[in-house]
Amino acid sequence: MSARVAAGSSRHGGTGSMQPPLLPKLTQSAGRRRWTVGLISGTSMDGVDAALVSIEGRAERRRIHLRAFQTTSYPPVTRKALLRLASGSPTTAEEVSRLNFVLGSLFGDAALAVCRQGRISPRQLTVIGSHGQTVFHQGARPRGHARPLPLRPPSTLQIGEPAVIAERTGIPVVADFRPADMAAGGEGAPLVPLIDYLLFGNAQADVVALNIGGIANVTIIPAGAEPEEVRGFDTGPGNMVIDGLVRHFSRGRKAYDEEGQKARRGKPIESTLAQILSLPFFRRLPPKSAGREEFGDAFLERYFLADKNAAPEDLLSTATELTAKSVAQALRHARPRNAKARRLVVSGGGAHNRFLVERIAALLPEMELAASDRYGIPVDAKEAIAFALLADRTLQGLPGNLPAVTGARHPAVLGKLALP
Ligand SMILES: Nc1ncnc2c1ncn2[C@@H]1O[C@H](COP(=O)(O)OP(=O)(O)O)[C@@H](O)[C@H]1O
Ligand SMILES: [Mg+2]
Repeated sequence: MSARVAAGSSRHGGTGSMQPPLLPKLTQSAGRRRWTVGLISGTSMDGVDAALVSIEGRAERRRIHLRAFQTTSYPPVTRKALLRLASGSPTTAEEVSRLNFVLGSLFGDAALAVCRQGRISPRQLTVIGSHGQTVFHQGARPRGHARPLPLRPPSTLQIGEPAVIAERTGIPVVADFRPADMAAGGEGAPLVPLIDYLLFGNAQADVVALNIGGIANVTIIPAGAEPEEVRGFDTGPGNMVIDGLVRHFSRGRKAYDEEGQKARRGKPIESTLAQILSLPFFRRLPPKSAGREEFGDAFLERYFLADKNAAPEDLLSTATELTAKSVAQALRHARPRNAKARRLVVSGGGAHNRFLVERIAALLPEMELAASDRYGIPVDAKEAIAFALLADRTLQGLPGNLPAVTGARHPAVLGKLALP
């Protein structure tokens, strides 16, 4: 799979001034072509996405080329352990520590595999950017508390030990992107909006980049916007509730509703939808971020599985409509300026759910909807590409967050470096 993308104009990337390079050896190649791998596993916990990209030019004028992309599925036992961990089940420091190292190996293998696929020797890489696997994320302080409670500050934990990835590949790894933004008072998420801005921003069209992973998020980029005018936030569940229902009714044999076929046969339960859409999360103004803490097993149990008489198709239809409606509602509040066109660029695994995409298109008739492939970015690869680009920015001393998006007090250079 391959795509050529011209990203950025002279204005782009201007989110803070260049800082002196911390690591002259790593940054000296900033003007030349550098091979970079981006790694991420999202809240669906389906596997590690790895993108091999070449980046040329500096922040203001850069070109990227996707050389290879692949997803390495988690072994079922690993996935089960992660799902349990992220559902808030009791655990031990021992278990978290072990999983951190297990995932480090898997992420390292995924990086090596994508290099093989792209016929690039790992030795040619400048850096690997690894988002890791989120197992806990609470961006906002508990509701109703003006100040953090003593032992409950907003916090986040991504695992997939970067030292293991660095050792396995022999390449420096930038990982742990979220904490720097949170330390500066931000939600720590989403971090892809800056990259959406660089990849999809357009002088004539208002653009909304919608990523449908386990959680759905949007980046709103008004026509000709400066980085400070970009907005981005989580809109609610993406595939998470749909996948949870499929896992439940198939007793773990299936992971998702293929192209939304089951949901298409059902009918949404309007009372459930109305009840959910009136929850505080959907009414809160951005910045906001969500995860399994909000829309995981407890949510599924309470709003979907409590009614033992409901037909599985109807529940799936309800979950699908919930994603579509919450996206549409969130965009209704966004008021981009009057541009010649309004584009909705869809990415993430949910872009393969035909019925879901049809429902979103039906609820947003004023928008011109297309998969991100149309703009040169394969739907499954966008987030992995984003973390390759974010690692590249980090090495150049450039910030990776957008304070207007995360709520941070200032732009921050993101991540921590593990050297081989
Ligand atoms: N063919 C398909 N039909 C319906 N849904 C799909 C299909 N392929 C992928 N998906 C959905 O995409 C999800 C994975 O999306 P992904 O972008 O990897 O999410 P995350 O970023 O949370 O890991 C799957 O769990 C599934 O819900
Ligand atoms: Mg995934």
